[in-house]
Amino acid sequence: DVAAIERLKDQAAREAVRYIEDGMVVGLGTGSTARFMIQALGERVRDEGLRVWGLPTSEASTMQAREVGIPLTNFAAHPELDIAIDGADEVLNGTLFLVKGLGGALLREKIVASAAKRFVVIVDESKLVDHLGTKAPIPVEVVSWGWERAVHLLNKTGSIGCKPRMHRDGTLFVTDNGNMIIDCHYPSIEDPHALSEAIYDIVGVVDHGMFLNLTSEVLVAGHGGVRRMVP
Ligand code: A5P
Repeated sequence: DVAAIERLKDQAAREAVRYIEDGMVVGLGTGSTARFMIQALGERVRDEGLRVWGLPTSEASTMQAREVGIPLTNFAAHPELDIAIDGADEVLNGTLFLVKGLGGALLREKIVASAAKRFVVIVDESKLVDHLGTKAPIPVEVVSWGWERAVHLLNKTGSIGCKPRMHRDGTLFVTDNGNMIIDCHYPSIEDPHALSEAIYDIVGVVDHGMFLNLTSEVLVAGHGGVRRMVP
């Protein structure tokens, strides 16, 4: 049930926040699991006087971090991060490749993950998969101009259907960067690196939601507790 899943997300998040030490610069992820992490980090700042700087991956996480009292920084002041902590939509057993971006923040999330010495992913066990693309579409961020052409080409990458992300009211979803998201469904992704190359080859693509070779470790919360997976 929903409440049980929320508790698992909170457990994984709190475990990850224990990794944060005084003076660290911390990438703050986006999504419902990352929300628990930002909350828990705010509590450590308040209760222990922990001194950290947060670098958020979305406008939503920026607002929440401000609310809970985490001082914020940017890449001008801190081009390298000690750690980044974020959720994921799928985690591939074994390699720990990810799919992210159901929340639409994939581009900033990937910039922040790649800037961190250690990228820690927090999930409940329902996110583990044996093939990427099983539970979630691959979100592709594209510049708005000419997006129909990007869809046309994305459909030739083995996808069984690509469509622009919409809001419930039927208007187009726009990312924090002013771009669009095309959600692409694949039957099952056998070679994530090859698919990644094919998507990057399309002019107008800014990035996609597959995170390959970025994960340092995954904290997976299940009914038996939190276990730590490394690639
Ligand atoms: C945001 O763009 C996403 O990448 C999220 O980080 C991801 O969808 C995980 O979100 P939940 O923790 O809400 O499942």
